[in-house]
Amino acid sequence: TGGKLVDVTPQQLAKHNKRGDLWMSLRGKVYNVTAYLEFHPGGEDELMRGAGIDATTLFNEVHKWVNFETMLQKCLVGQLVEARPFFH
Ligand code: HEM
Repeated sequence: TGGKLVDVTPQQLAKHNKRGDLWMSLRGKVYNVTAYLEFHPGGEDELMRGAGIDATTLFNEVHKWVNFETMLQKCLVGQLVEARPFFH
C-alpha cells in the first residue's frame, strides 16, 4: 500500500462535517470517520465535536493514548495543509 496522500485544506475539511459525511483531522492527517462514528466508544455526539475540524486538541484532552493511526488506517484520506487563498 502507501498511496500518495491527498492535500486537504481546512476549507475542504470543513465541508465534511455531517454524520453521513464525516472527516476529521488528527496530528496532521485527515480521516474519513463516517463508518467509525457508530463504533466510537465515547459516543456519536462526542465524536461529532471534532466534525470537519482539526480535532487533535480535543482528542488529546480525552484520550491521547488511543492509537488512532492504526485504528483508522483504512479511513486515511490525506494530509492537512494550510488554507489556500482563493480556494473554492
Ligand atoms: C472514548 C477512540 C475521537 C471523546 C474513546 C475510546 C476510544 C476512542 C478507543 C475508548 C477509550 C477507553 O475506553 O479508554 C477515538 C478515535 C477518535 C476519537 C479513534 C478519532 C476518530 C474523539 C473526539 C472526542 C472523543 C474528537 C471529542 C472530544 C471521547 C470520549 C470518550 C471516548 C468522551 C469516553 C471516555 C470515557 O468514557 O472515559 N474514544 N476517539 N473522541 N472518546 Fe474518543
